[in-house]
Parts: sequence; structure tokens; C-alpha cells
Amino acid sequence: MMIPAIIDSDGSQILQTLGLDLHMHVLPGIDDGAQNLNDSLALIDAHYRAGIRKIIATPHIRMDFFVNTRDSIYQAWTELTKITNEQYPDLTIQYAAEYFADDYFLSLLDKGEILPLAENYVLVETSLRHDLVYFPDILKEMILKGYKPVVAHPERYRAWHDKPERYDEIHELDIIFQINILSIGGAYGPTEQFMAEKLIQQGWIGALGSDLHRIGQYKYIKQAVENPYFESLKDIKLLNHTLRTD
Ligand SMILES: [Fe+2]
Repeated sequence: MMIPAIIDSDGSQILQTLGLDLHMHVLPGIDDGAQNLNDSLALIDAHYRAGIRKIIATPHIRMDFFVNTRDSIYQAWTELTKITNEQYPDLTIQYAAEYFADDYFLSLLDKGEILPLAENYVLVETSLRHDLVYFPDILKEMILKGYKPVVAHPERYRAWHDKPERYDEIHELDIIFQINILSIGGAYGPTEQFMAEKLIQQGWIGALGSDLHRIGQYKYIKQAVENPYFESLKDIKLLNHTLRTD
């Protein structure tokens, strides 16, 4: 099945140096990202043309909102990769999850039922709006259990924007900050973009993810690539480079 080109292809491999996207809502119909196979394939086609050759799909797992399980994720991954394995034979798609740090996540941690990005790296997020003061304790619990937290989009936590001490406190832990490419491209607004640039400038970035939910956001990926801060990352060792060959 061929899908129509949704974004213009200028032939540039704008994400080639990255090679791997480790945060993407690309599995069909199981969270607020791709709603069906066509949505998924549009995202994958854009990424493939941009030079991405490995994707770690990270659907939300959040109590009350996105109660995904290993099973639901595996089913959606199977449905998608049946097609992509044929259409893009040199593209690898793996699955993991983006965990919201809540009681349900703690119960999964206790049971050892966690889908890591790879090895012991686990993608975890907290509230964009509210400063949930227990978040650092959940990170510490993860570390105690042998996981390496990959903190999703710290630049997007509005509740932290006027609390630099929250960034300091979390950065001191054995974690990795994962910045969204979409933030660097201005997708969420100037404050998120500024915070992303500040974290890059401080050298506090350990991983890059797109966090793409829909193809309409791809214009911000293109804008991000034109941002000098994105360019400045080309000599920085990121988790993306470590995992791209795994
Ligand atoms: Fe996400």
C-alpha cells in the first residue's frame, strides 16, 4: 500500500545524523498519537525520508487516560510492522512506552513489568501543568530498582519554568534529560523553545526525541533543524547514537 506524500520532499536527509527517534506516538489507535494505520504510515514516511532508520515507538501508559498494556502495545506494533517491514526493509521499529509517573507506574515497577527503551533506559514523564512534588522520589525509586530514567521533555513542564531548583534537583540524579525536537522548532510556543535551548546551552541534554503525534507537526521538525541550537548538537554524544546500532 502506498500512501500519498503529505509533506513536500526536498530530498534532504535532515535527521540522518540522529538516525534514531526514541520518542514517538506512532503506533495506530492506542493513544493520542496516530489514530489509524494511515496516520502511522504518514509519520513513518516523513521520518524515513528525513533519514531516520530506527524508531522506538513510545505510546502513553497513564492510569485513567491511556491504560495500555504490553499486550495492547505489542498488538499495535505487530499490525504496523507487518506493513513497514515490507515497505521499508532497512527501517527498524521497536516498541517501548512513555510512562506517566503515578501510582500505577509504581505498581508496574514493583512487578517488574516495564517496557524499557532499551537495556535499563525507561522513558518517564510528569504533569505539564502541575508541579507533582513526588516526581523526584519516583525517579529515585526507579534508580534504586536499577533503571536509568529518561525524563521526557523537561522543557515542557510549565510548572517548573519559574522553578530552576526543580531542574537542578532532577539533573543531580542519575537521569537523562530528553528534549523534544518539536520544542526546538517552536511547536509548543516560545517559552518551551527557550527552555529547550537553555538546557542545550547548559549541556544538560542527553537524548533527543521527536514526540510526534501527527503529521501536521512535521513542519516544526523542519524548523528545528534550521535552529542553530539543533546544529550545535551534532558533536554531542546522545543516547540516540548509543542505541541506534543496538
Ligand atoms: Fe510523548
